[in-house]
Amino acid sequence: MRLCFASNNTHKLDEIRPLLPPDTELLSLAAIGCHEELPETQDTLVGNARQKALYVWEHYGVPCFADDTGLEVRALNGEPGVYSARYAGPQRLAADNVAKLLQELQGHADRSAQFRTVVALVLPDGTVHEFAGAVEGTITEAVSGNGGFGYDPIFRPKEGDGRTFAEMTTTEKNQISHRARAVAGLVQFLNEANF
Ligand code: IMP
Repeated sequence: MRLCFASNNTHKLDEIRPLLPPDTELLSLAAIGCHEELPETQDTLVGNARQKALYVWEHYGVPCFADDTGLEVRALNGEPGVYSARYAGPQRLAADNVAKLLQELQGHADRSAQFRTVVALVLPDGTVHEFAGAVEGTITEAVSGNGGFGYDPIFRPKEGDGRTFAEMTTTEKNQISHRARAVAGLVQFLNEANF
């Protein structure tokens, strides 16, 4: 099946590609001729994932899926959550987001957090299917590691061995990550539906 992944984030594409069945042809937005920024104006992860996937389906007629992810920090009442990308401002700079989060958490004993991902899939008949995944962990006191992207250098998953996501290989991150768990639901659905 030809499926577009509605994201310009090459890190996400690299994570997702090995998780899909080998007979799935994964198309980037560039590959289908989509070069504009996708609308992402909802105030929930599921709303944004659906909005991005449906935009591609409606404008390009290609079956596709999109993901939306939020980092929910307990001591900050679930922030930055759905606003994770723009936490430190509209430039969406990862280093600034990370710096702001470390600053906001100063003095908090509870540094627990979770990443949550929602994947929305639009099929050729226009129906939308959603899949969720989450991983619990803690926010470190300082950045550590050069891999991954976004908040990875300050997220230490509970199920790991003490390393941050940025200190893991893509394969290691994929064993426990929020996105891999959501994509596992998508893959199961595609297999069962015989796509
Ligand atoms: P979005 O899903 O691309 O909207 O991501 C929201 C924010 O979370 C962005 O700042 C991303 O960099 C960050 N983010 C998304 N997924 C991950 C991840 O797997 N690790 C670390 N940060 C992530």
